[in-house]
Amino acid sequence: MCHKEILRGKHPLVGSPLFLTPRFILNLIFASRASKVVNQGYQKFRTRAFQVVRGEGNLIVLPNSLVEELATLPSTVASPHGALEHDLLGSYTGLDVILESRLHHSIVQRRLTPRLGLITPRLEKELIPLFEELLPPSKGEWIEFQPYQVFCQLAARLTAHAIVGPAFCNDPVWLDIAINYTENLFKTIVVLRLLPSWTHSVVSRLLPSYWKCQGYIRSSKVLLGPKIRELLGRSEDGSLAPDSNEDEFNVLTWLAFLAKGSERKPDNIAHTEVLLSLASIHTTLLRMLNVLYDLTAHPELLEELRVEIYQVASSPEGWNKPYDRLYKLDSVLRESQRMSPPSTIGIKRLFKTPYTFQNGLHIPKGTYVCMPVYAIENDPEHTPNPDLYDGLRSYRAYMQSQSTPGNSNNSKEFQFSYANDPNVLNFGYGKYACPGRFFASLIIKMVLAKLLVEYDFQFLPGTGRPANLEVHEFLFSWPWNKMLLRRREGSTFSF
Ligand code: HEM
Repeated sequence: MCHKEILRGKHPLVGSPLFLTPRFILNLIFASRASKVVNQGYQKFRTRAFQVVRGEGNLIVLPNSLVEELATLPSTVASPHGALEHDLLGSYTGLDVILESRLHHSIVQRRLTPRLGLITPRLEKELIPLFEELLPPSKGEWIEFQPYQVFCQLAARLTAHAIVGPAFCNDPVWLDIAINYTENLFKTIVVLRLLPSWTHSVVSRLLPSYWKCQGYIRSSKVLLGPKIRELLGRSEDGSLAPDSNEDEFNVLTWLAFLAKGSERKPDNIAHTEVLLSLASIHTTLLRMLNVLYDLTAHPELLEELRVEIYQVASSPEGWNKPYDRLYKLDSVLRESQRMSPPSTIGIKRLFKTPYTFQNGLHIPKGTYVCMPVYAIENDPEHTPNPDLYDGLRSYRAYMQSQSTPGNSNNSKEFQFSYANDPNVLNFGYGKYACPGRFFASLIIKMVLAKLLVEYDFQFLPGTGRPANLEVHEFLFSWPWNKMLLRRREGSTFSF
């Protein structure tokens, strides 16, 4: 869409400092301060749609009142994966495969999530040696460490247990692919999205990160191929029973068991595995990291969380389904995600057919729409004192709801993984919401429960909580920040 078309468009344009600001400048403004631009539009046009310029086309940002209708539209009308593929420049990053199959989504939703209780003890067992390997040896003295790097390894190894299973979960080649495909994908899109779309096919070839992404996808096929072929063979002769053998209780086996048609090609299954690593590792590592930063900045909460963890462990039920009972820890996760979400916009959809909302808003085919999720959740009408970090905000709301007569069973709506609140949208909303959020919640809590009981933390002298970094709509954290940790004497957490 050229600049004249933007001006002729019926939705007001936000983020343009002058009447005729060139399009590439508007794109740079979005790339460097997307949250401010979108927030400005949200404040000004609360009940109507507005548009902002992003390199490849305009985003139509919809008002909060349309979330329910938008989220219930079928993907044949408003496609969530079409928008994701568009955002992550699928044809340059290999992500276009999500348009061909939805198996990666349904495997997580229908196989992994219902079986989380069964894989939890295995993950907990795995965590003990992982802590020994990845955390620096402290005998009570303060030691420097890089929390991002430690959480990255923890998230990658725990995720790999569920995704590729024991054959590859500690394989350095797989871990390299699982972590670095994502990092190179983001490097590629951060650069390409600064430039006009017509340059992408040439410029992408000049980027080392582009070639690395291609290489990681190729390596995944070489590494996983023989195992996938074996599993497919067994699925064909009827000897594969993924739920009966602990070693085969993982996404790789379920994929071989359930894939149909072209999904059964070993290369496609390997590629799907890489996509699942993309969806899971950095999202969970950033949550662990931000929670640690928040708690180190608010040490008064730490003791309260430790007491909760001890109480749950020593309750008559013992360490049985404990993560659902760590209400304060859950609240801290949710507050962290409110203030430091992975993306400032969400509920992204690419319209495959024209559609008219019930309020009369018409969306033509091919339009990209989204919701200003960061601005919505941080609106004082939805979150009082939004600039204030209040780790127990949701916990108190939950306790209050429990004491309201007739409301005592309704605990889910305050949970980190809840995705049916029109004002809390970081996992999406309704049936297309992130299918991996329950797994994410589980491994984040597992890591934090052990970490908080066993260690104390401090920022380096003279420094405070590292600020979030923002590029395009993404929020992230500098990977090389250092902190101090100290082993707490006599505190061992053994699940
Ligand atoms: C804190 C961690 C995570 C966050 C914040 C997050 C967030 C999201 C969001 C916002 C979406 C898009 C929903 C929509 O279309 O409206 C999504 C989709 C998805 N997520 Fe997550 N996610 C997280 C962890 C995970 C994990 C651990 C997994 C896998 C085990 C996972 C698997 C997926 C999949 C398969 C999709 C669908 C992608 C597609 O449409 O092709 N996510 N996630």
